[in-house]
Amino acid sequence: MVKRNAIFYNFSNNYLFDELQKIKENFIKKYPHKQLIDLSIGDTSQPLSKNIINAIQNSSIKQGKLETYSGYGPVSGQLSLRQKIVKYFYSKTNIHPDDIFISDGAKPAFDRLHRFFGSNISVSLPDPAYPAYKDICIANGVSSITLLPCSEKYDFFPDIEAIPRTDIIHLCSPNNPTGTVVTRKYLQQLVNTALKNQSIIIFDAVYSAFITSSTFPRSIFEIPGAEKCAIEVNSLSKSAGFSGLRLGWIVISDKLCYDNQETIKSNWKRLNSSIFNGASSIIQNAAEAALTNEKYDLNETIKVYKNNALMLKKTLLEQGITTYGGEQSPYLWIKLKGLTSKEAFNYFLNEFNILTSPGSGFGPSGEGYLRLSGLASQASILSSIERINRLTA
Ligand code: MLT
Repeated sequence: MVKRNAIFYNFSNNYLFDELQKIKENFIKKYPHKQLIDLSIGDTSQPLSKNIINAIQNSSIKQGKLETYSGYGPVSGQLSLRQKIVKYFYSKTNIHPDDIFISDGAKPAFDRLHRFFGSNISVSLPDPAYPAYKDICIANGVSSITLLPCSEKYDFFPDIEAIPRTDIIHLCSPNNPTGTVVTRKYLQQLVNTALKNQSIIIFDAVYSAFITSSTFPRSIFEIPGAEKCAIEVNSLSKSAGFSGLRLGWIVISDKLCYDNQETIKSNWKRLNSSIFNGASSIIQNAAEAALTNEKYDLNETIKVYKNNALMLKKTLLEQGITTYGGEQSPYLWIKLKGLTSKEAFNYFLNEFNILTSPGSGFGPSGEGYLRLSGLASQASILSSIERINRLTA
């Protein structure tokens, strides 16, 4: 018989968000009359704009006609989409369309990147962090994983002085799960450290569109030197409601090299052609539509989520609950004095019938915290606020 893949000995029994889904289902079964509000997984709630829907309809119709049907497209993605991505997300950088590789979302992009680097590398991961990073490293055979504890002292980012030399460092800003955002100064220090140590930073920028203050960098490529030591991953899941449609991208500059000075990008292109056939052409056209009418498709959707997070933050602070994030990010990171993550999770579930994500599910340094997502509908956020306000009523 086939032997079990050894990676499963290093996996936890359940992926965090699957576990939360099970808790949700059991709660609804047990208490069908209670209206459970789900602020756990960062899933989007706002409908797609007419502009995006029209693009999907038109591209689908074209696929049904002999004269307009199209099969495989370029593996790296449509040039016109890559041009729009550069215009929208990288206008303050030296990144050009040839540096963009379209993918079917951020999570598979991280997985393909780790497949690319292989198992014989060392990786540093912030703790707490998006749980998929660690699982993806393990799934790709990486055994040398160092967790970098993150605390309030450095806005829940790793203490740069304490980062050991590893081949890869993962960083996410605006951060999932804490909702905090790196400053230019911090990111410059991290880039300098990576250049000195000859490490590569895999920068997760999937929440970058939530940054509305020009003080903070939206891309690592706004930082001098980053082209030589960073790869960026981004997606339209949270910013334009593509969590179900699936559209992301990877940015690799020509300047990113191996220790022998050979460019990494050419090897990446080679592997990408073998293991990927490009994102759906219909969804790429939808993405182009999202990036054409900037006013509605990105900005208006993000405004709803940002407003949700801000309203929730105000309420939590008024109730005396320590709350971080929620300003340049849809996530809030809160601490209920004297309670473990599990106790705080159960308190929110039983007292308010609100499902949250326990901080401990994002890593040991998340113990004692809870994450709340502002990506839910405005109605869910308003009901949550009403329930939390009962604390002092
Ligand atoms: C989350 O942290 O809730 C995630 O962003 C969900 C996901 O995109 O996998």
